[in-house]
Amino acid sequence: MSDRFLKACRRESVDATPVWFMRQAGRYMKAYWTYRNRYPFLEMVKTPEVAAAITMQPVNAYDVDAAIIFQDLLPILEAMGLELDYVKGAGPVIHNPIRTRADIDALTVKPAEEAMPYTGDAIRTTIAELEGRVPLIGFAGAPFTLVCYAIEGGSSRNYEIAKGLMYGDPKQWHRLMDLMASAIADSLIAQANAGAQALQVFDSWVGALSPADYREYVLPHSQKALAIVKQNTDAPLIHFGTGTAGILELIKEAGGDVIGVDWRIDLNVAWDRLGSDVGIQGNLDPVVLFAPFEEVERQARRVLDSVQGRRGHIFNLGHGILPRTPVENVRKLIDFVHEYTKR
Ligand code: CP3
Repeated sequence: MSDRFLKACRRESVDATPVWFMRQAGRYMKAYWTYRNRYPFLEMVKTPEVAAAITMQPVNAYDVDAAIIFQDLLPILEAMGLELDYVKGAGPVIHNPIRTRADIDALTVKPAEEAMPYTGDAIRTTIAELEGRVPLIGFAGAPFTLVCYAIEGGSSRNYEIAKGLMYGDPKQWHRLMDLMASAIADSLIAQANAGAQALQVFDSWVGALSPADYREYVLPHSQKALAIVKQNTDAPLIHFGTGTAGILELIKEAGGDVIGVDWRIDLNVAWDRLGSDVGIQGNLDPVVLFAPFEEVERQARRVLDSVQGRRGHIFNLGHGILPRTPVENVRKLIDFVHEYTKR
């Protein structure tokens, strides 16, 4: 098995820098469409053989050092009683978003294995297909990102409704965040028990918060979720967020063995601030992959050079790979990272 990825998570020395991409299975790959044209997205997520096959696509196509299970952030909300729908062109929608205290009362929290049995099944099926080639990453949304989705009912620019509850009724906000943190921790533990060798928490929207608000309204809940996971599994934990340059130290305080950062901060600056007792994942701008490969290589080299030999770097993009990304550049970038960092 290529164990570079898990070694880097533990800040051990590696033979080359490990690389994988968030959203590495998806629409930019032709192979993805062979399934996507036949199944609605949620059906793919809930059919373990399909989810496993899609998880394997980038592993078979490129020399990535980790697989990430093909699931999504939002089905956990469906399991709690929200009506989730992936609408073509509009993205995910929740038809009955949380707006009142009664809506929070009505949420059902079941054990993860019962609420989302398909996730464990997808992980077990994938582990068998991987035959130990690379480790498998399980994942969940962080409390803030999931609660925002549950309240807004879809993507949002300013999160007025979610922040409206946060500022307007902090008691209910904290109750909802606490409930979400428990469900997230339970889901991550179930994924590790099913065989996932590492876990990532996505706080994709956390960049919308001031440092003071993150500390007051969010940090305790992320911290709780990550601490429960740490107490119950040995899997390394990656804590990823975007737009976190203003709250990096707080993200670290919330937890994670590895902190994922986007391209809006230099990797070495981020790492200096975080300290050497955590690993770092990132952080090429996903749009760079649309440039001629010479530019991709120049920018990748800049990221890799800035690490200056420190242990615990996992090369990734600063956010998910975009749907129209040229596959040739993806393959070349992965090979370049390995070649350039070979020890
Ligand atoms: O990384 C992987 O390859 C594993 C699979 C994965 C998906 N979503 C599949 C997916 C992962 C890790 C996610 C995480 C996710 N999902 C996030 C956090 C990461 C990020 O990008 O910030 C968020 C916010 C979601 C919620 C979500 N799912 C949105 C907002 C959308 C619509 C926007 C979009 O990209 O289409 C989805 C749909 C989704 N999730 C797709 C995939 C492959 C596209 C579905 C399709 O084929 O139409």
